[in-house]
Amino acid sequence: MKGNVLVVDDEQIVLTSCERILEPEGYDVDTAISAKAALAMLQEKPYDLVITDIKMPEMDGLEFIRQIRAKDPDMNVVLITGYPSQESIKEALSLRIIDYLPKPFSPALLTEVTHKAVEFKKKGVSPEPAVEDYTEEVAAKLDEIINRYKDKPGSLIPVLQEAQELVGYLPPVVQRHIARGLNLSVSEVHGVVSFYSFFTMKPKGKHNIRVCLGTACYVKRAEEILQKLKEILKIDIGEVTPDRTFSLESVRCLGACGLAPVVVVDKDTYGAVNPVKTAEILENYNGKKKEG
Ligand code: FES
Repeated sequence: MKGNVLVVDDEQIVLTSCERILEPEGYDVDTAISAKAALAMLQEKPYDLVITDIKMPEMDGLEFIRQIRAKDPDMNVVLITGYPSQESIKEALSLRIIDYLPKPFSPALLTEVTHKAVEFKKKGVSPEPAVEDYTEEVAAKLDEIINRYKDKPGSLIPVLQEAQELVGYLPPVVQRHIARGLNLSVSEVHGVVSFYSFFTMKPKGKHNIRVCLGTACYVKRAEEILQKLKEILKIDIGEVTPDRTFSLESVRCLGACGLAPVVVVDKDTYGAVNPVKTAEILENYNGKKKEG
């Protein structure tokens, strides 16, 4: 069994569909026709994921999530919504939902979101890395970008580029927003984002550090610089420091081989870098002090 899932919706047809889609995928699915019934079930059995409708009589989805959070702050919750108002999404995100499913959703999307959410739970990963990035304001700006390109052919790439400039990266919640806005499938958007290397699904720090590992830099011991940065920041390539100040990338030739080895922080290029200078460079940003 891949995991225990509780689906909560006041429409029986939604419950039945979720069961029919998820059970053959290996999930143990229970259903509840109201939030109240679901809360009682949550007392009785451990669940890996709760998928709940937002609009329900008596107790709506948001109040339901609030009550879940009071008892189990780490429960993974996915919200089923109609076209979501920014207000409800904002509130749902502040309640740390892991994702949302716009109605009507395809079996493929339900399976994908469920799989991801259950995996998160198993790995003990915090469910809401995107909260601070996908705010009401960001969602409104994404709509502006989408509307500007909507009726033009080939609109997906420029929309993704502007969205990445705006948010800094393209988390699943942003990809879904764009898919909905441009009337594309989520997998189509995801396919483009994963295909092009200039799109990233990982958040960047306030200061993005790129270490060149191209040939000229490599022979001048760029690996040691990278190692030093990893030690000081305690992150690996592609990661961000917990305070989101720094992110670390490696690149192949920054076009400044004469300065090798080269490190670029944001738009600042540093040449002839050595491990000692590396620590000093970091101190220029946010007063980060040397460690280790
Ligand atoms: S190899 Fe590093 S800048 Fe060219």
